[in-house]
Amino acid sequence: MTDRLIIRRPDDWHVHLRDGALLADTVAHTARQFARAIVMPNLSPPVSTTAEVEAYRARIIAARPAGSDFTPLMVLYLTDATDPDDVAAGFASGVLAACKLYPANATTNSAHGVTDVRNIYPVLERMQAIGMPFLVHGEVTDPAVDIFDREAVFIEQVLTPTLRDFPALKAVFEHITTRDAAEFVVAAGANVGATITPHHLMINRNAIFAGGIRPHAYCLPVAKREVHRLALRKAATSGSEKFFLGTDTAPHLVQAKESACGCAGIFNAPHALEAYATVFAEENALDKFEAFASEHGPNFYGLPLNSGRVVLERVRELVPERLPLGDGEIVPWLAGETIGWRFSGVTD
Ligand code: NCD
Ligand code: ZN
Repeated sequence: MTDRLIIRRPDDWHVHLRDGALLADTVAHTARQFARAIVMPNLSPPVSTTAEVEAYRARIIAARPAGSDFTPLMVLYLTDATDPDDVAAGFASGVLAACKLYPANATTNSAHGVTDVRNIYPVLERMQAIGMPFLVHGEVTDPAVDIFDREAVFIEQVLTPTLRDFPALKAVFEHITTRDAAEFVVAAGANVGATITPHHLMINRNAIFAGGIRPHAYCLPVAKREVHRLALRKAATSGSEKFFLGTDTAPHLVQAKESACGCAGIFNAPHALEAYATVFAEENALDKFEAFASEHGPNFYGLPLNSGRVVLERVRELVPERLPLGDGEIVPWLAGETIGWRFSGVTD
């Protein structure tokens, strides 16, 4: 049995770093394990122009731990009013790595999101022409659609027609949670990829109701049935270059989660690689782990692979019940559980 896993330094293709008092800690947690990260723009108010993205990037860079070379890859939040020229200029200047579609009111801080995908067709036209990645929160928001069906209905009502109209658009189906989404991505062209979170590989929807309501297992898109979790594990460990690591680490302080109306989001940055390694080991697919964590994402985005390596050791480690974050406390993913891996740092 291998007791050390050494892989090329990975990136996280989906993170929420927030802002203000939380930023130094969120950046430190992600930068500890990952060289680069796609930073989601759902602040309040959202980061929806290149100038706002540039200012947010400067705050993130200023918040990095001393000596850190962590690179935030920045994303513009699409609204009904997004200007294609601003997007194209931001991409050309290197400020923007991608744009993100939040269907209006789909998730945390998405009230300013797109009300109808046709409203951003001029932006998508331009993004397709310049090869700019289009990142998608893939859920419909119609309250009449059952919450567990919203991803599958989105594929049918929004993603399929959009990709038919823009067949060369580089699109990332973010944090997929269903067999339907995994199958859709496999069947699509090489221009369509997907991120998969560690928590959707580890839990099904029963975890949200195990012996009582479990706010720390609640995120969006919500975890689905076991059949979907198994399909995601198969996709992630298949070796297909369409699937890559994106934790969707989404911190909400303990009082915002443990509430009569608890926020959606799971904070998994502190033990992200350990969680993924657990899944790949259980699937006897550790030989596919490095490509998922460190190669498929950069190849999809057209970025160089990182140099350097990270080391994981196969030792038992207890995840703390709580961690300090900003001026508060947070309950991390797998809190109180013992995991079988320990991240032991970056090496040459
Ligand atoms: C994210 C957040 O809190 O920003 N929450 C979540 O449950 N994943 C938003 C998102 O990615 O949908
Ligand atoms: Zn997210």
